[in-house]
Amino acid sequence: MANDKVLLLDTTLRDGEQSAGIGMTGAEKMEIARQLQRMNVDIIEAGFAASSPGDFEAVSAIAREVKGPIIASLARAHPNDVDQAWRAVEHSERPRIHVFLSSSEIHQMHQLRKNREEVMEMAVTMVERARGYCEDVEFSPMDATRTNPEYLYQMLAEVIRAGASTINIADTVGYAIPSANGFAQLLRDIQANVPGIENVTLSVHCHNDLGLAVANSLTAIETGARQVEGCINGIGERAGNASLEEIIMALDTRKDHFGVDIGIDTTQIYPSSRMVSRISGMAVQANKAVVGENAFRHASGIHQDGVLKDRSTYEVMQPERVGVPGNSLVLGKLSGRAGLQARLEALGYSLSRDEVSRVFESFKVLADRKREVTDRDLEILMDEESREATEPISYTLDQVQFSGGDHGIATATVRLIDPEGIPTTDAATGNGPVNAICNAIDRAIGVVNRLVDFNVQAATEGRDSLGTVTIRIEKDGKTYTGRGADTDIVVASAKAYLSAVNRQLASDESANVPALGSTPD
Ligand code: KIV
Ligand code: ZN
Repeated sequence: MANDKVLLLDTTLRDGEQSAGIGMTGAEKMEIARQLQRMNVDIIEAGFAASSPGDFEAVSAIAREVKGPIIASLARAHPNDVDQAWRAVEHSERPRIHVFLSSSEIHQMHQLRKNREEVMEMAVTMVERARGYCEDVEFSPMDATRTNPEYLYQMLAEVIRAGASTINIADTVGYAIPSANGFAQLLRDIQANVPGIENVTLSVHCHNDLGLAVANSLTAIETGARQVEGCINGIGERAGNASLEEIIMALDTRKDHFGVDIGIDTTQIYPSSRMVSRISGMAVQANKAVVGENAFRHASGIHQDGVLKDRSTYEVMQPERVGVPGNSLVLGKLSGRAGLQARLEALGYSLSRDEVSRVFESFKVLADRKREVTDRDLEILMDEESREATEPISYTLDQVQFSGGDHGIATATVRLIDPEGIPTTDAATGNGPVNAICNAIDRAIGVVNRLVDFNVQAATEGRDSLGTVTIRIEKDGKTYTGRGADTDIVVASAKAYLSAVNRQLASDESANVPALGSTPD
């Protein structure tokens, strides 16, 4: 196989954000985009500009600031979507418009309610419109893997004639099978039957409904695709997208097999995974390939023995290669600023002197309450710091008290500081501490929300661990996520709930993504 380059398109900020219950603020999207830039991905799909004013703002801010990668916005095959996508990315050094439209009969009949000729016409005119704005135009036939092949070839040939420079075969519902007579055959047939395909980049976008997204993406590369799309930690619609970090490490570790180049800084994978997990509130399963907590842990005696003698016995890649930090330094209350800074740098944070001083204050408070401050603790500390700096803050938590127990009535009292700096205190009962706290905060602010998800996790082993709480609330059909951390999980819950309420009050519209298959009026 030729030794050539495979482009990696990261769609964590677009398809990833479509995961049920995730809503990222513009500032969080920017933080992830900067991390993707450090990781050196080739293309960042920064969002879906026409979906909401919040998404438009986020895409344009990323397009203006993030240099290096191509910055893409998704657009339905509609003039307004294409125009908005262009307005959002036009200030990028390297803008891309990504137009998509369903090609399968199932989608055209039941969702678009248009006939195949009408759909073909829409695809061609919208690619032409996008091409009028910029040279870099990607076209995705949605649900391509369930599309009549002859119709698919015709559609692809026409959009290539209209100016598409990347053709992205979307396995929208994760239906493809990664075998020689499955997805590989479809891609070979496309290459054999679509005039002009040899002059554009062939890409794939695989979903994970049958757990085959990464396998299908790798099969596609073997069959000639030179762009693959995915998300960090494999987040995305339903069962998610192909995990970008798994594709990258398969290509890196098995270069002998695939024989292709990638431009990724693999040591940025672990920091990216941690960041996306924190911001999305979606935990990474312990046995997840490449980035799971157990991915480099050896438990059985035989394995430990082998690894102690030579790591290659049971490790096909080394943890340092994906940026998992070594554990040479343990921080505690006697540690100084320099030790903290060195550890944060090893974890992938680069901070100014002022930032280090601010984090050092919070670190000292935590070190007073915990014997050892671990990497996980530091990540949580950094997360809290960055949220304080970027989150829409209406109310801050000044005090929270709780009483309850086995036969007591769960009662919470909260003291909040309102946007004008005025303290407000209220109390409420509930059927447990979390319920009582949420009720007390609702009363103090005068809001009513529905709590749809509550998750508490110990950050580290040991009884003195920090507890991290993720809460999702729903209001008028929109979901808002809040996070909080503390050694006291009642306090962490209050912080998380208030953070979700603040987001709801700021009514950031970034969670308002319209149905992808819908046609705007
Ligand atoms: O899954 C899909 O079909 C998509 C397209 C918009 C590329 O996400
Ligand atoms: Zn998708």
